[in-house]
Amino acid sequence: MIKVSGLTKTYAGITAIRNLDFTVAKGEIVGFLGPNGAGKSTTMRILSCFLPATGGTASVAGFDVATQSREVRSRVGYMPENVALYPEMRVQEYLEYRAALKGVRGRRNRQRVNAVKELCSLRDVETKLIGALSKGYRQRVGLADALLHDPDLLILDEPTIGLDPNQIRQVRQLIRDLGKRHTILLSTHILSEVEMICSRVLIINRGQIAASDTAENLAGRVRTAGGVTAEIRAGTEDLKKALVALPGVRKADVAPQGDGWQECTLRTDADHDPREEVARLAAKHGWPLRALGREQVNLERVFTEITQAGEL
Ligand SMILES: Nc1ncnc2c1ncn2[C@@H]1O[C@H](COP(=O)(O)OP(=O)(O)OP(=O)(O)O)[C@@H](O)[C@H]1O
Ligand SMILES: [Mg+2]
Repeated sequence: MIKVSGLTKTYAGITAIRNLDFTVAKGEIVGFLGPNGAGKSTTMRILSCFLPATGGTASVAGFDVATQSREVRSRVGYMPENVALYPEMRVQEYLEYRAALKGVRGRRNRQRVNAVKELCSLRDVETKLIGALSKGYRQRVGLADALLHDPDLLILDEPTIGLDPNQIRQVRQLIRDLGKRHTILLSTHILSEVEMICSRVLIINRGQIAASDTAENLAGRVRTAGGVTAEIRAGTEDLKKALVALPGVRKADVAPQGDGWQECTLRTDADHDPREEVARLAAKHGWPLRALGREQVNLERVFTEITQAGEL
């Protein structure tokens, strides 16, 4: 559905994205992650024909974004980062107007406007001025707008930003439902959201793709260079020295917690679990041990490791 190859964008000398290569297959829900300024919005704008690339190519459903923008636009529903709506228009009026702009006219206009109002729960506010809507409802109008021409591909730039927890849950559910019929590329800074909604994760860092896999596989990659945590009461230096000397331990961080307790974080070789050795070590020295566990690897850890050039 999406094919990006060697895509580059330079803004007045600043390279926002550099040589991006990735694909999104039909039916996928892909989470697009990256720190601020990584190039997510830039990529999404190029894919929705709102911005020309400086180099490389991008296509949607086989149509080139630069030379076949009409075909691309008719297949892409784009919800930008800052949804620009007309505050002086009423919701109903706005949706009819936007649908007409997208070439959805006559009877189909009424049908589609009704369908997206239903889908995005906008019936209650259809006669309200957009300027008088809460942020959450405005986001929903933005999403409804993106859906008007029933596009195959949805490109959603931080669709849940600024929403309260209830609204976030509703919008997430809506996206999940939409994912049954549409291919979706969505950016977000909420990593748990990606774990909940997306079938695959694309991580972009400093304008380049740093990872592309399922959240589970990415976590697996971090886990094999895994970590063990322990709380032990001992002298900082003695403890550190003893821990690093254990087989399979690459690095040991020891942070005092007060009362002589130390919080220990061990980085280990792939597939090495030194928990038993840690327990034995503590017993041997007569050091009290009150916690010992393997680190839970979630997408947040993966993201940090990858974007901070960790030692994965
Ligand atoms: N219109 C513009 N003019 C100049 N530079 C821009 C413009 N838009 C974006 N940039 C620069 O391009 C880079 C990528 O920006 P982009 O908005 O794509 O990042 P992002 O990943 O969407 O970040 P965020 O998470 O903050 O939304 C940044 O360095 C940004 O400052
Ligand atoms: Mg952005």
